[in-house]
Amino acid sequence: MELLRPDPVGIQRAVTLLQQGDLVAFPTETVYGLGGDAQNDQAIGRIFTAKGRPTEHPLIVHLPDAQAMTAWARAIPDAAWRLAEFYWPGPLTLILNKTTGVSNRITGGQATVGLRVPEHPVARQLLHAFGAALAAPSANRFGRISSTTAVHVLEEFSHGEKVAAVLDGGACRLGLESTIIDFSDDQPRLLRPGMIGLTDIEQLLGENVAIPAIGAGPRASGRLPSHYAPTTPLTVMSCSEIAAMLAQARPRVAVLALQTSIADIGSHHWVIMPRDPNSYASGLYAHLRRLDQLKLDRILVEQPPKSPEWDAINNRLERAETKSRTGQH
Ligand code: TXA
Ligand code: MG
Repeated sequence: MELLRPDPVGIQRAVTLLQQGDLVAFPTETVYGLGGDAQNDQAIGRIFTAKGRPTEHPLIVHLPDAQAMTAWARAIPDAAWRLAEFYWPGPLTLILNKTTGVSNRITGGQATVGLRVPEHPVARQLLHAFGAALAAPSANRFGRISSTTAVHVLEEFSHGEKVAAVLDGGACRLGLESTIIDFSDDQPRLLRPGMIGLTDIEQLLGENVAIPAIGAGPRASGRLPSHYAPTTPLTVMSCSEIAAMLAQARPRVAVLALQTSIADIGSHHWVIMPRDPNSYASGLYAHLRRLDQLKLDRILVEQPPKSPEWDAINNRLERAETKSRTGQH
């Protein structure tokens, strides 16, 4: 895989590869995306193969600007335009009814399409230089932790030659995937919480956004009960539960703690996470990845606060946890 610098030469190389139907991973403000020409079915096929993703799971189409939406979506409700105008470019994905020309391979056979205009300067330069839409799921193998640095992308896809290059834009600012709002039906629905909070969206829209039960509603891999998971079993616990577990002298345990009050850490691997949800989110995946690489028996995560600013974080931790508990890989 080529590691490209995010300068005009690197961007031009990325454009050439994308025009050939090759895959190029690129940074966004949320996580790295695994990009391919959204109008090239062969490139779309390569994305599914590289990720090991089931073909019925739809991809997000990344656009250079909101106006480009009309080529991909029809009957766009006013509310969707309002969110697009306010939050794009930014960490928000809109699910809309697709126009007839949109390939079934992108939508996983569904009548809807996911659209997003990313804010990261490298993503924007790439989209403008390419001059067309890029299909890009998160740049990780299916079910695994998303990549928030170019090195993570190299680690995820080091086997085989399926990904031609990665544009190195450093660490992603937000670190968690975009908020997804589904506008394909009468009432808007939150399909995936992100760092744009639900209350802000509801306030802007002046209406309620429904929260479907996990596992219900449209297919979205972010909605599977198990996703975003390290291979090491992960458990979310209170501070006192962690302390009790460490007292049993389990040396092969890593701890992601929120505070220093856990006494007697001993030889355990541990990370103190910031109490600010934005800082916590931006570092979470990198820490989980590093702790996972230690191949310990278990990763213990101290339960973050349950308040709304922590919704996206708690959502990802729940999914990481379920998968480990059920032992599915
Ligand atoms: O922040 C992000 O959204 C990142 C960056 C790269 O843009 N992308 C990302 O893509 O997280 P991905 O494919 O890993 O997650 C997109 C989610 C999936 O759960 C997918 O099923 C859902 O969006 N999705 C895409 N199109 C959909 C559709 N038409 N209906 C319902 N869900 C859809
Ligand atoms: Mg993903």
